[in-house]
Amino acid sequence: MIVSFVQTKGGTGKSTLALNLAFSNVMQKAFESIALIEFDPQGTLRDWWQAREENHWQTKKVSFHHISSTQKEVVQDGIKSINLHNELLIVDTPGESTGKLHTKIACAISDLVVIPTRSSTNEELALSNKLLPILKEIIKINAHKQGGFYVLPAFVNSRSSKDKIIQYFEDILPSYVECMGSVYPMRSVYENFNREGMALQEYIKSVEKNRRVFQQASKAVSDVEEIAKNILERLNNRQV
Ligand SMILES: Nc1ncnc2c1ncn2[C@@H]1O[C@H](COP(=O)(O)OP(=O)(O)O)[C@@H](O)[C@H]1O
Ligand SMILES: [Mg+2]
Repeated sequence: MIVSFVQTKGGTGKSTLALNLAFSNVMQKAFESIALIEFDPQGTLRDWWQAREENHWQTKKVSFHHISSTQKEVVQDGIKSINLHNELLIVDTPGESTGKLHTKIACAISDLVVIPTRSSTNEELALSNKLLPILKEIIKINAHKQGGFYVLPAFVNSRSSKDKIIQYFEDILPSYVECMGSVYPMRSVYENFNREGMALQEYIKSVEKNRRVFQQASKAVSDVEEIAKNILERLNNRQV
């Protein structure tokens, strides 16, 4: 199974979501081996993984792979061999400035594509002008890819109504892209936890004694677990 995080606009939470999905309880329970794959030549996750190793964090089920080639065959071969040894592949892609090709390849090879998007004019325009044409093209060639593209409302104000935001996206999205049943709220904890190569699940253990930070982190953990549950359900539905 392959899940990709895609959005031609940078800074929408793709890398953060990808790494925390790999370490989520939901995915750790559902899969024996998880490969976190970065297509971004800038290497945000590669640096994070290096910090992880330097700080000796336990990784058990998760392995990390960096593929920056833009040659379709090279990427496909890389994915194929990672696929042989892993039950779940999570792919993080760069924004458009570094790699439109990566976005295309990720959309074409994935069982499920998650598109974190803020409700702002800028990002909605990027979605409709840059990403939707790519998705449309893929469906044209490969009809069974329909049903595999999901917008995840991102950086949502934690106090605003989830249902209203989902409804808003459902209204503006074309028929071949759906809105995820969960949202990705904005949380201040994301400023700190990943500096030392941690995932949220590890960060929360490190702040147990600070009640305020711990509460914040717990909320972020439940956001991610809910998104993971949603992704897993959709993956299972697509398998049958
Ligand atoms: N839910 C969130 N709330 C607040 N800040 C976040 C959230 N998710 C990610 N961030 C922060 O936003 C920035 C961009 O996130 P990143 O995952 O690198 O986006 P992308 O990979 O799409 O460029 C990072 O500084 C990250 O720590
Ligand atoms: Mg990124």
